[in-house]
Amino acid sequence: MSNVLVTGAAGFIGVNFVYYWLDQHPADKVLGLDALTYAGNHNSLVEAEKNPQFKFVHGDIRDQSLIEQLLRDESIDTVVHFAAESHVDRSISGPDAFIDTNIIGTHSMLKAAREVWLEGPQGRVPHRFHHVSTDEVYGSLGPEDPAFKETTPYAPNSPYSASKAASDHLVRAYHHTYGLDVTTSNCSNNYGPYQFPEKLIPLVLINILHGRSLPIYGDGKNIRDWLYVDDHARGIDLIIKQGKLGETYNIGGHNEWTNIDIVNLICDLLDRHFTQDAELKARFPSAPAANGAQARSLITYVKDRPGHDQRYAIDATKTTQELGYQPAETFETGIQKTLQWYLDNEAWWRAVMDGSYKDWIDQQYKDRKAS
Ligand code: NAD
Ligand code: DAU
Repeated sequence: MSNVLVTGAAGFIGVNFVYYWLDQHPADKVLGLDALTYAGNHNSLVEAEKNPQFKFVHGDIRDQSLIEQLLRDESIDTVVHFAAESHVDRSISGPDAFIDTNIIGTHSMLKAAREVWLEGPQGRVPHRFHHVSTDEVYGSLGPEDPAFKETTPYAPNSPYSASKAASDHLVRAYHHTYGLDVTTSNCSNNYGPYQFPEKLIPLVLINILHGRSLPIYGDGKNIRDWLYVDDHARGIDLIIKQGKLGETYNIGGHNEWTNIDIVNLICDLLDRHFTQDAELKARFPSAPAANGAQARSLITYVKDRPGHDQRYAIDATKTTQELGYQPAETFETGIQKTLQWYLDNEAWWRAVMDGSYKDWIDQQYKDRKAS
């Protein structure tokens, strides 16, 4: 039995991970910590809070004394560290928060872990610090380049990926220098339920339902490698249980798509839902399919993201060979599940959009004049 602290537990992947872990490890206690920034949503954890094994704490990873207190009082033996500023566009318009949370915040987590797990009154106690990182730290690939391996040199290109890279290095250094028991995972683009609608897939889905334009950055030919969020959680689980200390592991879905292809796919799938379910026309009267048009008609090419990475692709051979990792969800089933979840959970995304997100996204639309 483990006592697990999940940071960023009210964010997209953190929420899905909490549900995954409570389901897969029912004897474990899970403590979810989150600062509830614009991206964190306490409502997403409503089902988890019905489970006596789960507890939520509203707090900041930069508050080292709070983290030390939680590690001690809750006898935490495993940290899964998701908390971060995660959106590349926001890191371009305002990098400071990324330095504060992703670098200073991760360092505060590491200092607390060292203090309690290595230098407490009982000396060294059994522990694991799992750090959640991203494929973006490896930089950008050309069309024919081999996919990122764990040995690919770091070459981060955005303030977001640079801050994640810095945090990865700190985690590595705390293992090498102080002997903290760490593992790190570098994962490709996730999609699934509870994703904040500033990210491509939920943004496109919700914009179609509102009849709002679908902004495609640049020529739409940039490539991302998409993974269903539960497959990320399963990969982290395997790494925590079987991964070698001090090692990094790639997690990915062998599922590369250009942005324009993925947007076209979502358009067509949603149009089909409208033909199969008459109620959708009444619920979303501004959607093109409610007015005899195609969702693709909303596609609008806009100014490119500055420094936009061309292609990400993950080579997860090490994770597969050492730990037996394989994604369980196919893209066909995963994207359908995701689409259905957003149709079934309108109250969730409406509540999210009523907050500061709406002002930010309106500003983005103003800034990105159609090219
Ligand atoms: P997210 O933005 O949806 O959630 C981040 C969460 O962290 C939010 O709930 C936010 O409130 C919380 N948070 C932010 N600052 C905090 C602070 N100072 N203290 C405590 N909590 C704080 O992000 P996500 O997409 O769920 O990503 C989670 C992690 O996974 C990040 O570390 C990200 O770099 C990594 N990752 C994401 C993806 C992806 O495709 N989304 C892929 C690979 C890796
Ligand atoms: O690769 C993993 C990373 O994936 C994570 O580390 C990040 O936290 C996560 O945000 C994600 O980063 P991306 O920048 O790849 O995701 P995003 O959804 O913002 O964009 C996906 C692609 O779609 C990217 O090439 C930019 C493009 N895009 C995005 C938006 C929001 C558009 O063309 N239009 C848009 O409106």
